[in-house]
Amino acid sequence: MSEFSANIPAALQWRGETDGYLEILDQTLLPVRAEQICCRDVPTVVEAIKLLRVRGAPAIGIAGAYGMVLAAAEARRQHLPAAAAVAHVKDRAGELATARPTAVNLRWAVDRLLQMVGSAGSPPDPDQLAESLLAEARLVHAEDRDLCTAIGRHGAALIPAGDILTHCNTGSLATGGDGTALGVIVTAWNQGRRFQVFADETRPLLQGARLTAWELVQRQIPVTVLVDGAAAHLLKTGRVGCCVVGADRITANGDTANKIGTYGLAVAARAHGVPFFVAAPSSSFDLTLATGEAIPIEERAATEVLAPLGVPAAPAGAEAFNPAFDVTPAELITAIVTERGIIRDVGPATVAAVLGG
Ligand code: MRU
Repeated sequence: MSEFSANIPAALQWRGETDGYLEILDQTLLPVRAEQICCRDVPTVVEAIKLLRVRGAPAIGIAGAYGMVLAAAEARRQHLPAAAAVAHVKDRAGELATARPTAVNLRWAVDRLLQMVGSAGSPPDPDQLAESLLAEARLVHAEDRDLCTAIGRHGAALIPAGDILTHCNTGSLATGGDGTALGVIVTAWNQGRRFQVFADETRPLLQGARLTAWELVQRQIPVTVLVDGAAAHLLKTGRVGCCVVGADRITANGDTANKIGTYGLAVAARAHGVPFFVAAPSSSFDLTLATGEAIPIEERAATEVLAPLGVPAAPAGAEAFNPAFDVTPAELITAIVTERGIIRDVGPATVAAVLGG
């Protein structure tokens, strides 16, 4: 797997073999500095996920998968007997899977590796278990790169001519490949289409301004950053051909949780007749939930709103409402692009037809 895509460092990379470590690009420092941190144990991975050093639904799934390899390494370092080692890995799985609640990819990936623990024999040989966990984590990572490629191809064929508005960051920094929504944009650009990308800055943590704009500048794709509050006005001008966003969890009826502000964008897009596309891999679907009402929405610290980037922006005594995600109802979504194909007329039957649910 290539570590660099158009000068964009990989969001995360496993270094070495079963006694190796997970290298994470610390996205909290971008776009000022591109620095990696080394994760040699699960608490460091959990902290990196919670603090958004690594973020984006597919990327935190990959981090969770490699976190499971580190859990097995911890057990080996502590010379735990086989049964205790399994118990340790299962405990760590719980910590990893719950580090952030909304993106289903995290639990999906951790559960996938947990199945390796279950199928490794009883009691599993610690060396063999470590080997099989690392092989599976590498597979999760490599597969995500391929899913992005397929999503990019399907999506590029779908989006109309014109400028594109996106929200949050859904590119290389958020995935194991070129991205989901941003992968669609990058693929269309690489096919020779020409357009301006409008990137919502994405309050409060500025993933659009700090990360999406950074990726697009690295790729020499023209990007204009706007405050989230300018998006409806931009759509009203008629300049934007479509909106493309990612997803953290899509339920059986197509309701889609994504970064806070996505729902408002979809409402404004509908009001102005602009197609609104979601791009996401099958690992972002949670077919156990009938509708988006059941999706847990992460609420983050008040300081992110009251003192953005550490600079006080509201008086002491003010409170903050800081949901990290919102849910866009399926009826506002023109189509969902997955690696398996495109879901049109989004609803339970069309989701099941493409996802096989
Ligand atoms: O809080 P974040 O930065 O992890 O939120 C990320 C998003 O909402 C993305 O749009 C989503 O995870 C899709 S990433 C391909």
